[in-house]
Amino acid sequence: MLDNFLFLAYFIFSAPSLPVDATLIYANTSLEDVQNAVVVTGAALNLTAQEEKFDFNLTANMPASTTTSVTTLEALPENCGAYNVPNGSECAEGMTATNVTFDDCGDPWTVCRCSNANMTMDTVVDRLGRVPVGLRRYVATIVVLGDTSTHAYTLTNGDIHLFGDSAIETWLHESMHSFDFASGTSVSNSSQWLESIGNDSCAPDDYSLTNAVEDFAQVGVMKLYSLAHYGELPYGWEPECMKNQLAYMDPLPLFNRTTLFGNTCDILGVFSGARKTQAPLYLNTSAVFPLSVSDSPYTDTDPKTTASSVSSPPAATAGSVNAGRSLHRKSLTEATVMVSIIIAAVISRVIHT
Ligand SMILES: *[C@@H]1O[C@H](CO)[C@@H](O)[C@H](O)[C@H]1NC(C)=O
Ligand SMILES: *[C@@H]1O[C@H](CO)[C@@H](O)[C@H](O)[C@H]1NC(C)=O
Ligand SMILES: *[C@@H]1O[C@H](CO)[C@@H](O)[C@H](O)[C@H]1NC(C)=O
Ligand SMILES: *[C@@H]1O[C@H](CO)[C@@H](O)[C@H](O)[C@H]1NC(C)=O
Ligand SMILES: *[C@@H]1O[C@H](CO)[C@@H](O)[C@H](O)[C@H]1NC(C)=O
Ligand SMILES: *[C@@H]1O[C@H](CO)[C@@H](O)[C@H](O)[C@H]1NC(C)=O
Ligand SMILES: *[C@@H]1O[C@H](CO)[C@@H](O)[C@H](O)[C@H]1NC(C)=O
Ligand SMILES: *[C@@H]1O[C@H](CO)[C@@H](O)[C@H](O)[C@H]1NC(C)=O
Ligand SMILES: *[C@@H]1O[C@H](CO)[C@@H](O)[C@H](O)[C@H]1NC(C)=O
Ligand SMILES: *[C@@H]1O[C@H](CO)[C@@H](O)[C@H](O)[C@H]1NC(C)=O
Repeated sequence: MLDNFLFLAYFIFSAPSLPVDATLIYANTSLEDVQNAVVVTGAALNLTAQEEKFDFNLTANMPASTTTSVTTLEALPENCGAYNVPNGSECAEGMTATNVTFDDCGDPWTVCRCSNANMTMDTVVDRLGRVPVGLRRYVATIVVLGDTSTHAYTLTNGDIHLFGDSAIETWLHESMHSFDFASGTSVSNSSQWLESIGNDSCAPDDYSLTNAVEDFAQVGVMKLYSLAHYGELPYGWEPECMKNQLAYMDPLPLFNRTTLFGNTCDILGVFSGARKTQAPLYLNTSAVFPLSVSDSPYTDTDPKTTASSVSSPPAATAGSVNAGRSLHRKSLTEATVMVSIIIAAVISRVIHT
């Protein structure tokens, strides 16, 4: 069993404030349980960022799932209570635990919500339900908290902690971490992934440059975007300089579009370590991708077809889409390096739960 390493992800930031926020919040949030310090990672990527940050909205492209039950639990599970007063500092106002079951999975997800959380339970259920079932099945407990800044992290046990008002892209990013850690051996630490990074000249955004773990999650979100958009990347991004990273994602069974956007978390023969695998009592045969999402008219093609179109988006749109917007290319700036050092320092501690 892996120890629960803490991975930070997705601060909404302006350059000068990030290091401050990052240190203040994360030095305290879950490190009360820290007993040892072990250096695990932290090497920043020597690539350029294509864009400063993700500025697209995948909400409408990730179909909502229907809830079949939402049940308040009598007691907080331990992995939530540890962050509640008086045990932990993430929630001083008191948490409530709720089990949420969607129509695509027999196993419920436990959501622990601090009473001052910015996201309402309805928002939480909506966004969690939009994480495609093939990815959501790797997510363990969701802890939702209040804060003045929006940020989130994922533990190697698959638990996701979200502060403020996390957009769907953040939910997807953190879920990619849950997937990454699920087998007990980080996929993002595989030699093939590291080699893919080494073969490329860019990563999606500044945050991706943090390390191979964060880059894996960000490229995963890019891949999800492409699956919902005929294989195209968001406005402003092009595949060429990160084609090896995208190519690494393509054959992962996770990204089989049929099962990823399917109607059951019971996916046989696919990558071990999923945490929610009980088939729903009734299969909702209409709850399959792309549902009625009007701007996502995906045809049922082989994922391989999708993969190749990632590398070469239609010429007709590629020019006009990218022409209006000059690519934001930057090397590792001083600020990024500073952030990386802080993040590396924080994730270098081991949490024993
Ligand atoms: C972090 O913890 C220290 C003491 O350990 C405390 O002085 C400080 O106020 C805490 N910061 C936050 C943001 O909770
Ligand atoms: C990454 O893999 C190497 C061996 O290839 C191992 O020594 C190292 O501990 C791993 N790091 C993490 C964070 O799992
Ligand atoms: C980063 O990559 C550039 C170009 O590939 C290379 O010249 C430079 O030495 C690398 N820097 C580090 C710190 O590895
Ligand atoms: C993203 O899209 C959804 C649905 O289209 C919308 O409700 C939401 O406000 C959008 N979010 C942002 C940050 O624009
Ligand atoms: C604090 O932790 C203990 C031991 O895990 C647990 O029994 C208790 O419920 C927790 N307290 C709160 C308020 O969550
Ligand atoms: C709540 O969900 C958790 C996680 O799936 C499960 O272990 C637990 O049995 C559920 N509790 C109830 C009362 O349904
Ligand atoms: C969360 O809500 C509090 C008020 O309860 C507010 O002060 C804070 O700015 C909100 N955070 C975000 C990220 O909107
Ligand atoms: C990286 O590039 C080398 C040399 O071109 C190639 O042999 C290798 O297969 C590539 N690996 C990946 C994972 O992209
Ligand atoms: C994707 O999953 C479906 C359903 O399990 C399966 O029939 C299909 O062969 C898979 N596709 C690939 C490329 O593995
Ligand atoms: C099946 O899924 C669709 C799409 O999510 C939903 O609109 C419909 O209400 C579901 N049907 C049932 C019986 O839950």
